[in-house]
Amino acid sequence: MLDLQPAPGRAVRPTGQERTFDADELIVSKTDPRGVITYANDVFLRVSGYEMDEVLGRPHNLIRHPEMPRAVFWLLWQTLGRGEELFAYINNLARDGAHYWVLAHVTPSFDARGRVVGYHSSRRKPAQRAIEAVRPLYARLSAEERRHPGAKAAVSASSQLLTDILAEQGGGYDDLVWSIINREES
Ligand SMILES: Cc1cc2nc3c(=O)[nH]c(=O)nc-3n(C[C@H](O)[C@H](O)[C@H](O)COP(=O)(O)O)c2cc1C
Repeated sequence: MLDLQPAPGRAVRPTGQERTFDADELIVSKTDPRGVITYANDVFLRVSGYEMDEVLGRPHNLIRHPEMPRAVFWLLWQTLGRGEELFAYINNLARDGAHYWVLAHVTPSFDARGRVVGYHSSRRKPAQRAIEAVRPLYARLSAEERRHPGAKAAVSASSQLLTDILAEQGGGYDDLVWSIINREES
């Protein structure tokens, strides 16, 4: 669920320090249908700097970086809501204020009757050039969001901007991510 309210008690300040992880590592987490964390692997815990008992039962926006545009998470939840998967570049905030970029693959998990029982995300380390490719787009979306004081108006304006930019490029966010993967991740 896309929660437009800030998470209660969230006080991590970004330090500007970048953290990376190995190219052969996978950061994995699972959530319930509302985005509450139900599983995190050891790589997740190491890179984000949290203990297992600090992440289980917490909303996944625990590691939200304030510079990430809301429009990307809006798109994520829209896509998951249709029962579809999404690849996305995401900048995350660790417990100590460091940030780390990931290329996430987020998928719904279904039960035997086809109902969504939760979501699963596995993330790889993106190429530096891929990060540079998405950074200007995210900066543009965040700048648009800052022009609108309310979260609802902000996400609506930046989602419209994202739709317009993608339409100009003749594809969706998925096409953009795949073109970056094909160009910069090989
Ligand atoms: C399986 C799954 C994985 C997610 N992974 C992340 C993540 O790595 N970083 C992040 O900021 N949000 C992630 N989200 C999205 C968050 O639930 C949330 O929508 C986002 O952080 C925006 O938070 P906000 O609504 O409080 O602004 C994930 C959601 C799901 C369902």
